[in-house]
Order: sequence, then structure tokens, then C-alpha cells
Amino acid sequence: MSNIDTDRLIGAQIAGVTLLALHGRGHTGMVFVGFQKSLKRKIAVKLVPKEKATAQSFMDEAEVIAALNHPNIVTVLDVGEYEEFLYITMQLIEGDSLQATLKRKLLHPIPSQRCLDAAFTLPVMAATLDALEYGHTQSVIHQDVKPGNILIEKQSGRAYLVDFGIARTELTEDESKYVHGTPLYMPPEQARGHVTDARADIFAVGVTIWECLAGTLPAPQLPAIKLVGMKARAPETFFTKSPSQSSPRIDQRLEQIILKATACDREQRYAGCAQFKNELSAYADEKLGIRI
Ligand SMILES: Nc1ncnc2c1ncn2[C@@H]1O[C@H](COP(=O)(O)OP(=O)(O)OP(=O)(O)O)[C@@H](O)[C@H]1O
Ligand SMILES: [Mg+2]
Repeated sequence: MSNIDTDRLIGAQIAGVTLLALHGRGHTGMVFVGFQKSLKRKIAVKLVPKEKATAQSFMDEAEVIAALNHPNIVTVLDVGEYEEFLYITMQLIEGDSLQATLKRKLLHPIPSQRCLDAAFTLPVMAATLDALEYGHTQSVIHQDVKPGNILIEKQSGRAYLVDFGIARTELTEDESKYVHGTPLYMPPEQARGHVTDARADIFAVGVTIWECLAGTLPAPQLPAIKLVGMKARAPETFFTKSPSQSSPRIDQRLEQIILKATACDREQRYAGCAQFKNELSAYADEKLGIRI
């Protein structure tokens, strides 16, 4: 990804949209701010090199995502091919991702402040669970829930889930199989390349809550391919500390919630996102005095 010359793409015209500036880049693609001439508005344009996804699967998935209509899901506008890329245009969320918000907090001079508050994190994750619950009722599993894919609109504070079901592949250790998702957040069954269901997203939400409240996850610093192998083979030892050991902000009750969501055996997790959200709401109500 890093060797793609993004400067040459500035000014490119893609289906009536002019690319204005690079907004950010991830493992699979690059997101640009673009200007849509017809409606005179700024939108987000994600470009993914064609070797990362087949055009057919990308288009098929985009079609499914475009049918999703939820206040906490970024609206997909268009999809297509441009030179050596597949592109997807979406509603631009002006604000920061949860990842960027957390990264800023990691620079705090006081170590105990290098994480996000529960009063900030839990409402964002409750909205994420609403979005996922809706997606699941439409038979769409996100498969890549993580702080980089949760955006918080600056003006309204509303959380939006992005990259729903978008093909993203990671080679497994035996190099014969690809899996979707990001190693730290994916459940063992996804690392093994098995068919995933709603409970894969529940696992990833649990890991995301854990990371936000602890600042960093107690996981080994290894290349993605090794992490996928560890998740698949030894999921019980993947995280080296328990949630409460990794942060004093995680009390016994919150630890139980995180551990249930991130159980290695998916049968032991919450059965659905609504149930998970109810647990978070009850916690937020009783312990923090906030309604989510
Ligand atoms: N519709 C959008 N509006 C505003 N920002 C967005 C939008 N979509 C993505 N972003 C931001 O652009 C950046 C790059 O996104 P991208 O999806 O390429 O990377 P990522 O989510 O970090 O990793 P991955 O490649 O695994 O998805 C991220 O910071 C993301 O939060
Ligand atoms: Mg993303």
C-alpha cells in the first residue's frame, strides 16, 4: 500500500467526482476526500488496488451494503473500477475515527489517562451494536469491526460504522487460505477461515471496547500473518492479560461483559448484538448514570 503514489491521484476524475486530498490509508485501500460536481458536495472515495479484491466480489458486496439504511451506518453512493483500482464512494463523515481519537489519548503525559473513558466509549459502542444488529437482520456480517472503522461525526457526536462487509484479505500461515478481517480483532473461527456469523462481530466489538478502555491491547507485537496463526491455533493464550489486569478502569462487571463477548468458543458469546447492547446499557445506567 505504502508504495502507491497518491499525489498523482489528486485531481483524478472518477464518475463525476474530483479527488481533492488523501484522507487516510489503511491496509487495503486509501480514502480520499472528493468533490461531487453534480450535487456540489464533498464525499469520501475509497480506492482498493485490484489485486486486493476481485471486481465481482467487490461489486456484489457493495450492492448488499448499498441496501443498508441505518443512522449509524455510512451510506454507500457508488461503486466501480478506475484504472488499477476498485472504488467505492460514500458519505463523508467529518470527524475522527475511534482509532484516531484513541491515538491522540495515547500521547497524554499522564499514563493513566492514555485510554478513553467508559462514558465516551460505551455510547459509541452501543451505536455500533445497533448498526450491527440491523446489518445482521439483513444477513450482512461486518467482519472487520475495529476502531479504524468506527467514525465519530464532530458536529453531532454520532457514531458511524464504515467498511461493512468490504472484502479485505489476510493470508493465513499455511499460505493456502485467505481470511477476511484484521488479526487483533477477529475471532478464532475467522482466523481459521471458517464461515462467520453475527458472533464474529460480537467478538470484535468486545476487543474494541477492551482496547479503548485499556489504551492498548495485551497482545504480542508480531506481523499480521503470525497473529492470524496464533488466533487460529492458540486463541486462549492470544491475549496475555485479562481485561481488568490491562486497565484499572475495567471493573469486574465490565470484565465479565468483555470476556463473554470475546469467548474463544462462539457458543459462549452473546447470542446477538441486541443482548450485548442491553448488558452495556444496564452497566452504563447503574455504574455511570448514563442512558445509552
Ligand atoms: N466515509 C468516510 N468518511 C470519513 N472518513 C473515512 C470514511 N471511510 C474511511 N474513513 C477513514 O479513512 C481512513 C482510511 O480508511 P481505510 O478503511 O482505508 O483504513 P482502515 O479502516 O484503517 O483499515 P482497513 O484497510 O483495514 O479498513 C481511516 O482513518 C478511516 O477512519
Ligand atoms: Mg476501514
